[in-house]
Amino acid sequence: MSVDKIKAIYGTRDILPAEADIWRKIATTVAKVADEYNYSFISTPIFEATELFSRGIGETSEVVTKEMYTFKDQGDRSLTLRPEGTASVVRSYIEHSMGARQGLAKVWYAGPMFRQERPQAGRFRQFYQFGFEAIGSLDPSIDAEIIAANYHIMELLGIDDKKLYVNSIGMPGERKKHKEAFSDFVAPLIGKFCADCRKRFETNPLRMFDCKQDACMALLKDAPVIFDYLSDDNRKHFDTVCDFLDHIGISYELDKKLVRGLDYYTRTAWEIKSDKLGSQDAISGGGRYDLLVEQLGGKPTPGIGFAAGIERVILAMPGKESGQDRKDLGFFVVIGNSRYKKEAFGLLTKIRKLGFPADIDYLGRSLKAQMKQADKSGFYYSFIFAEEEMTRGKVILRNMVDSRQFEIGLADILKAGNTIQLGELIGYIQ
Ligand code: HAM
Repeated sequence: MSVDKIKAIYGTRDILPAEADIWRKIATTVAKVADEYNYSFISTPIFEATELFSRGIGETSEVVTKEMYTFKDQGDRSLTLRPEGTASVVRSYIEHSMGARQGLAKVWYAGPMFRQERPQAGRFRQFYQFGFEAIGSLDPSIDAEIIAANYHIMELLGIDDKKLYVNSIGMPGERKKHKEAFSDFVAPLIGKFCADCRKRFETNPLRMFDCKQDACMALLKDAPVIFDYLSDDNRKHFDTVCDFLDHIGISYELDKKLVRGLDYYTRTAWEIKSDKLGSQDAISGGGRYDLLVEQLGGKPTPGIGFAAGIERVILAMPGKESGQDRKDLGFFVVIGNSRYKKEAFGLLTKIRKLGFPADIDYLGRSLKAQMKQADKSGFYYSFIFAEEEMTRGKVILRNMVDSRQFEIGLADILKAGNTIQLGELIGYIQ
């Protein structure tokens, strides 16, 4: 009887063991930079009350109107799989009175996000982000700090062709003035814009700058930009951010047409892009959200943050050099005769307890096949339980890189109390 196979849902994907190294590298790099910049880890639920996102991200944003995975649970509550992390972090900040307890909350997170977008290269329906948020300060130097953290992570991951674009999108008052001038500019041309832009014109005209269509971009070439409508204070804020970035040697470009896709943004906004990525070229994006805490029921509190799409980061990272075999300090235990299985299993456990990676065959393979497997495992050494040596209480230690071999007393290894003693035993063959 043949049974239909079940496949992963369109727009989702498995992260397979072959990709494990790169995911781990990203995770450790992000955690390291978070430590260096003193951001603490936070984890919020994957689903939240739908209202959190409709109120937080904005009723008119494309994410809320078109892309959310919203469902009713058994209790008839409307829940949504989080499309991004900021609204949840701000909810948590308010719920746990983080402001009162620590003044400034600096947190980072990583995990899956869900948006029902049209899948394409670098765009998925379940994708992974890591993000940083700093809630509680309007000091422009924190803008520079968090942009620097974003930039440094990309630097450490070897993404050389990145470009950082910065802008300020002001506050609602400035946007209102800009909107009037922008509407006057666009109104006579509105028939020439795409259907999406015509809709954006009604709901959130600034978002028209987000359109990827060349024709719309061309029509907006000389359109008024929000940057030119900034108040003196906000202009000064932005200039100070740039000044700090210059001072710490982070290069950026002012992009007055940069707008972000979520409604909560105010003042500073930025994106890091890579040419390697095609149309979905933003590796990360962020900005200030100085009104969001209040909008979600907290006290007026400024905030700033960014998130990066891990799948896109991977696309932008340099490829692994071919022909370069991974060799980790670790041991593959090879058994010449199943009689030695128990001793071999004991040795395997001992090595692991000493803190080294180790593995053994579980498929009853021949000695030759086990040696091949040892080679493929990527471990630096193998321990071989061979007939003749075992009669003398010895096992063979083989260096898998240069094939040198050496005999060691099994009892000596089992006696090793720590990594140094084991290191001394295997030191002969380094
Ligand atoms: P965002 O620009 O919507 O911002 O997303 C940030 C990053 O997530 C994007 O630059 C991109 O790399 C990745 N991304 C977004 N959608 C997809 C997708 N469908 N497939 C793959 N990758 C995707 C935010 O999410 C804000 N919460 C960032 C933020 C934090 N702002 C302030 N704090």
